[in-house]
Amino acid sequence: MATIGLFFGSSTGNTENAAEQIQKLLQAAGHEVNLLNVYSESVKSMEQYDYLVLGIPTWDIGEIQEDWKNVWDELDTLELAGKKVAVFGQGDQRGYPATFQDCIGLLGRKVRERGASLVGFMSTDGFTFDESLGLEDGKFMGLSLDDDNQRDLTEGRIAAWVPQVISEFGI
Ligand SMILES: Cc1cc2nc3c(=O)[nH]c(=O)nc-3n(C[C@H](O)[C@H](O)[C@H](O)COP(=O)(O)O)c2cc1C
Repeated sequence: MATIGLFFGSSTGNTENAAEQIQKLLQAAGHEVNLLNVYSESVKSMEQYDYLVLGIPTWDIGEIQEDWKNVWDELDTLELAGKKVAVFGQGDQRGYPATFQDCIGLLGRKVRERGASLVGFMSTDGFTFDESLGLEDGKFMGLSLDDDNQRDLTEGRIAAWVPQVISEFGI
């Protein structure tokens, strides 16, 4: 059993709902999961966990969600060497096809700069968009969710992703 820190920011609740679903599935697999909203939880406490799951929606045409924005500079001070991190995001591929899921990439690269290794990359199959900073080698750098247009697919996407993350965490 591993203890996982699941940190998220969410302005209208979609990322929070996904975080709760992810927490349930990780717990069902026998792991302890601390669900933490970056609105009120210091990101410094990320350093306590060997395994992190981070949720971030993209807002305001490629911008970082406001609660993550408030702690963004603090992320530069974290020591995350050796930690495994899986990122997930909410976005709107129809409304913002040129900046779809940018923040998966912005946050993923940020924690990788601090020494973490990323897991949980995902195929773009089933999505239609033009550009995303959330891509690396043609894959999303984490779980991509779009409750605005494909809410019916969210549960299945989470159910497919969580076992992948558990396997890539090696827990
Ligand atoms: C003003 C506005 C700007 C947005 N900009 C983007 C964007 O650039 N890229 C994207 O993928 N989604 C964008 N979205 C969609 C949100 O990411 C989406 O609604 C998401 O589900 C919100 O998550 P939350 O409820 O956790 O805050 C935008 C939404 C609004 C209302």
